[in-house]
Amino acid sequence: MGELMRRFWMPALLTQELEPDGKPVRTRLLGEDLVAFMDTQGRIGLLDEHCPHRGTSLALGVNADCGLRCLFHGWKFDVNGQCLDTPAEPENSKLARTMRTKAYPTRVGGGMVWTYMGPPEQQPEFPHFPWFDMPEGSCEAFKVIYECNYSQALEGAVDSSHAGILHRSVPWGEEAKWPHEKDLRPKIEVEFTRYGMRYCAVRDAGQGENNGRMTQVPLPFWTFIPPDGPKAPEFRRNRRLINAFVPRDDYSTWHIQFFYDPSQTIDRQHRIEESGVVFDQNFRKLNGIDVWYNQDRAMMKQGNMSGIQGVALEDHAVSETMGRMADRSKEHLGRSDMAVVAFRRMMLKAVRQLQETGRLPQADQGRFDWNEITAETFIFPAEMKWQEIQPLPEHLDAVNAAA
Ligand code: FES
Ligand SMILES: [Fe+2]
Repeated sequence: MGELMRRFWMPALLTQELEPDGKPVRTRLLGEDLVAFMDTQGRIGLLDEHCPHRGTSLALGVNADCGLRCLFHGWKFDVNGQCLDTPAEPENSKLARTMRTKAYPTRVGGGMVWTYMGPPEQQPEFPHFPWFDMPEGSCEAFKVIYECNYSQALEGAVDSSHAGILHRSVPWGEEAKWPHEKDLRPKIEVEFTRYGMRYCAVRDAGQGENNGRMTQVPLPFWTFIPPDGPKAPEFRRNRRLINAFVPRDDYSTWHIQFFYDPSQTIDRQHRIEESGVVFDQNFRKLNGIDVWYNQDRAMMKQGNMSGIQGVALEDHAVSETMGRMADRSKEHLGRSDMAVVAFRRMMLKAVRQLQETGRLPQADQGRFDWNEITAETFIFPAEMKWQEIQPLPEHLDAVNAAA
């Protein structure tokens, strides 16, 4: 699965974490410890964290004059990993010229620094996502660590049926406010596509109408969540949420979110408060599993379903308490888990395809127009199919893609 992940550009750091000649930032991606820095000219390097000399963390180093210099013996590296200087070696030493450390390519978009960690000859075009083109302030990127395997975290986002239960806004048994609270048994239907899959949760909206919520699930770790729709307060109506569940390693995940809406600015602070997640400077939760998500039993007695503050924190709680890597052999899946099952099948199929052919035809990222792949909320007559409202363009069909 790691080999599969490496074939995609991944969001890695917030651009605001870096500044020219500023503090280097440690990060972990796909089980590798890395250090990111922005050099004097604003170029961004993402290097092996450990100095190739004797392994000191380059995150301790001096970032100046277009390079990162190790604190121990002063070896200096540029953003491409080329060694520029070995000041403790003899003056005629050729060591610097021949020395290189591991460096991954970087790009910037949507408030994040992105990287590609796969074979250089397989590097796909850098994808152009719709949220890259938002007016200033209309797209905000966030990240925090999920203390569990990436697929567990992701499976919570392809599971519409938990919305009216875990994230319930009114006490259990009281008259519901939202369609997802009124109809707790959505019909879940999945379609495999060229870019991955999409699924729709269809709920009875009364008066002969249905409510559709269609989520996009592009390979390998994305979920595009539909906006809250016409009945929501105005600032949430068209606000779009994109999740990336980027593996840090097998047991923890970068939960990266992009919020965007061309018609409004995104209030960063409000969004963090709304999520409920409180985190430290290393993006680890302070109100996570160690303090049992500060679950408040008194609040629950008064009718709050979860006793946990904030939608994102609720999601983290239900996935992390499965264990860092859940034992799926103990599960008992139902109809409501249709999209979860489809996601697992999709990933396994993609891995097999990669092993057998060395290629990922479904995931040829560079050639999608990502504007065509959006998540939507919509009301439609009960006698119609949701696909009639949201037809899949033919060229994005999985069958056609195979041809
Ligand atoms: S360990 Fe980095 S220069 Fe010696
Ligand atoms: Fe959720």
